[in-house]
Amino acid sequence: MEGLKIPFLFSSLFSMLINSNAVDTITKTQSITGNNTIISSGGSFEMGFFSPGNSQNTYLGIWYKKIFVRTVVWVANRETPLVNSSGILTVIDPGILALVNATGSVIWSVNVTGSTQNPIAQLMDSGNLVVKDANDKSEHFLWQSFDYPCDTHLPGMKLGKNFETGLERHLSSWKSSDDPARGEFTYRCDPQGYPQNILNNGSVEVFRTGPWNGLGFSGRPNLKPNPIYTYGLVYTKAEVYYHYELISPVVSRYDVSYDGFVKRWIWVDPTQKWEIYHSSPIDNCDTYALCGPNGKCNIANSPACGCLSKFVPRNQTEWGNGDYSNGCVRRTPLDCHNGDWFLKYLRYKMPDTRNSWFDRSMTLMECETVCLKNCSCTAYANLDITGGGSGCLLWFGELIDMKEYSENGQDIYIRMASSESEPVGSNGKRRESIIVGLTLTIGMLLICLSLTLYVWRKKNREQKRKGLLRQRYNDDTNESQKEDLQLPLFDLAAIINATDNFSENNKLGEGGFGSVYKGFLEEGQEIAVKRLSRNSRQGLDEFKNEVICIAKLQHRNLVKLLGCCIQGDETMLIYEYMPNKSLDFFIFDRTRGTLLDWTKRFNIINGISRGLLYLHQDSRLRIIHRDLKASNVLLDVDMNPKISDFGMARSFGGNETGANTSKVVGTYGYMSPEYAVDGIFSVKSDVFSFGVLVLEIISGKRNRGFIHSAHRLNLVGHAWTLYKEGRSLELMDGSLRDSCYLSEMLRSIHVALLCVQQCPEDRPSMSSVVLMLSSEGALPQPKQPGFYTERNPLEADSSSSKDAPSSTSVNEITITLLNAR
Ligand SMILES: *[C@@H]1O[C@H](CO)[C@@H](O)[C@H](O)[C@H]1NC(C)=O
Ligand SMILES: *[C@@H]1O[C@H](CO)[C@@H](O)[C@H](O)[C@H]1NC(C)=O
Ligand SMILES: *[C@@H]1O[C@H](CO)[C@@H](O)[C@H](O)[C@H]1NC(C)=O
Ligand SMILES: *[C@@H]1O[C@H](CO)[C@@H](O)[C@H](O)[C@H]1NC(C)=O
Ligand SMILES: *[C@@H]1O[C@H](CO)[C@@H](O)[C@H](O)[C@H]1NC(C)=O
Ligand SMILES: *[C@@H]1O[C@H](CO)[C@@H](O)[C@H](O)[C@H]1NC(C)=O
Ligand SMILES: *[C@@H]1O[C@H](CO)[C@@H](O)[C@H](O)[C@H]1NC(C)=O
Repeated sequence: MEGLKIPFLFSSLFSMLINSNAVDTITKTQSITGNNTIISSGGSFEMGFFSPGNSQNTYLGIWYKKIFVRTVVWVANRETPLVNSSGILTVIDPGILALVNATGSVIWSVNVTGSTQNPIAQLMDSGNLVVKDANDKSEHFLWQSFDYPCDTHLPGMKLGKNFETGLERHLSSWKSSDDPARGEFTYRCDPQGYPQNILNNGSVEVFRTGPWNGLGFSGRPNLKPNPIYTYGLVYTKAEVYYHYELISPVVSRYDVSYDGFVKRWIWVDPTQKWEIYHSSPIDNCDTYALCGPNGKCNIANSPACGCLSKFVPRNQTEWGNGDYSNGCVRRTPLDCHNGDWFLKYLRYKMPDTRNSWFDRSMTLMECETVCLKNCSCTAYANLDITGGGSGCLLWFGELIDMKEYSENGQDIYIRMASSESEPVGSNGKRRESIIVGLTLTIGMLLICLSLTLYVWRKKNREQKRKGLLRQRYNDDTNESQKEDLQLPLFDLAAIINATDNFSENNKLGEGGFGSVYKGFLEEGQEIAVKRLSRNSRQGLDEFKNEVICIAKLQHRNLVKLLGCCIQGDETMLIYEYMPNKSLDFFIFDRTRGTLLDWTKRFNIINGISRGLLYLHQDSRLRIIHRDLKASNVLLDVDMNPKISDFGMARSFGGNETGANTSKVVGTYGYMSPEYAVDGIFSVKSDVFSFGVLVLEIISGKRNRGFIHSAHRLNLVGHAWTLYKEGRSLELMDGSLRDSCYLSEMLRSIHVALLCVQQCPEDRPSMSSVVLMLSSEGALPQPKQPGFYTERNPLEADSSSSKDAPSSTSVNEITITLLNAR
């Protein structure tokens, strides 16, 4: 390698001997100098000079060696760039590691004078730049860059505080992609009360992970042990820190971005891209204290903010106007008399712990006793939820920043005044139920944990009897959550009876894989039975898929599965009955369309978006529906939408966001270009279908089969043309023309156009969609949509696709294609 010339000027300052442009140690006699010169660690990291983005400035930084997308993980002189010059990193006597600019000024330095006679700097293979004594072979560092993180947390780094030295390590974002100087956002492990990680914008809290509960962070119930990294919170007398370690060869890091997100990244070798594994905040409910003190945020609700049960808004006027900042107060104020008691609230993100107290060894009962004794103690919970729960966490004062989950949250006990009515049976009397677990395995994975029909009926009757009671203390029953997963198995005879032997009169419709019947159970409950056609071998997979998928889903905008029936060669799914059929029945019919005014349609759009958001993000499986269309949205008695038909759905682990398939299934007109053409599907393909659906709901026209006298565009293309010409309102269904919610309509069209953009990366996620629909902020300009002409790339080579299952409507057919690849 060629030697590097060092300006003569310096040679008087310190001696140098440079004969290579990649060194692994910087000593008094060996320095590195400008223009991309590199110091390299073993195999993972290297260090050198770089200019971020469009910046003219030069910085000394550390990045991954083998990842060609330059990813800087640490910057030495983040606040003091080298302007217009190269620099030299060297060790100056007696003990200063210094970055010097071309005129000899020290731009950045580390001073270890007095600690050693012979300091050297080395880049460790962990990405840690250390200064140590040349003869010290131990891990004793005089200085290390891991103690001064920038925006990136690497494995082995500690995010937190050392109580003995006072050293606090936290992440701080860059100012912008061009400027590594300290930006607005910090992410730290806050040791006040009981530790939790907090993302701040300046001094304002943005997001809180919630306290560590032994398993994970209370506010991240879906982050589970995974094959890529382990993580945890260490909390001793000496220090507290959050850390993680990689356990697979996969490269992963997380950082805090200049626009305020904490993102975990995974390097995906085949695509040569950093993919987001997890990003916080996830949704609006992650916004710190969004619903004020004693409020709870539930993303499935509209509005998302509510008061905890037994609490009421502090100021009804403000609350009614959507100002939740003052939160809620107790219906019955605490008076701290004898007889205060605790109400159990199920499945929550634990409130802010900065005003809390803890004890690791106490039991929950001791915890309650301690809390009762102190009048300012307002709530308690287990500190650690592993192994049935242990330890004690107490809160004082208002409970701030609670989020309610439909699953996986933690339980918290909140103090109630003695005069607050106590629900009957709250003291842990379990509802009796005889559960017969029956495991059936069909083919690969179909597991139907079930009750026999007899038990189910009995339970059902019992439930009806107790219905009122149960509703009263919804929040405090002790019923085991595991019950949720058990899927009742129906007896074939009962189904035959209920559907009048699948009589033609009871037939509701025909889907791709069989017919749907209406039925009445003996108890009078109405059901919808999806009966798989016997000869549909393909259908069996979809059936399994649907059962496994939907049995675990619970959301009010998803159709509810009541059970299944597998007997002989009959396979059936039993759903709650939706009296108002499906969305297409209304919106595409001139007469029935008038029954859906704008308020109802907007409610439907919002409902579908929340249902999808739940599938994509909030359910314990990440699910891509893959066949969202008007006929798969059912309407209940109040015209609330429920997404149905999970035959095509694919579920993913928390890490994956999409996949590639050679088997393309879906419906013309709703399929995104990347999926139809390349078989690449992701949550963004659902977003595309959602956009199409919204345009259909607004216009009352089908995307495919849309006819216009002036052009040959489909509905998406038509909407795009009108939008560009500022004539979006003309898209409106005739029956909506008199409506006075024009801004809501325009906004919905705008959001729909964002959803159908050509590039998946440009399309918003469902959480942004939900947010955009419900807020009034400015929206980005949509780019050109995908598939906006009638001619569908699929049609060009769809000769191989004629095995599509039969369906009642040609336009609505769900197709299966094998992509040649
Ligand atoms: C850096 O090196 C490139 C080519 O190696 C050269 O064109 C450029 O002028 C150098 N810049 C500085 C500041 O030395
Ligand atoms: C920066 O470099 C440019 C071009 O090399 C030169 O014209 C300019 O004077 C320099 N500015 C400073 C502050 O050195
Ligand atoms: C070196 O840094 C000093 C102090 O910041 C500055 O005055 C000088 O202009 C810099 N020299 C170059 C060549 O940038
Ligand atoms: C480095 O540290 C030593 C001892 O703490 C101090 O005497 C000296 O002035 C420092 N040097 C610089 C350049 O800050
Ligand atoms: C951070 O806070 C500042 C000051 O309150 C505000 O102007 C800015 O918009 C915030 N940044 C983000 C990304 O929200
Ligand atoms: C409630 O809030 C409104 C608006 O901020 C205010 O005018 C009113 O006085 C408040 N009412 C009470 C009881 O505090
Ligand atoms: C109640 O707890 C608070 C917070 O720990 C403490 O400051 C206060 O002294 C306690 N009061 C009593 C009566 O123990």
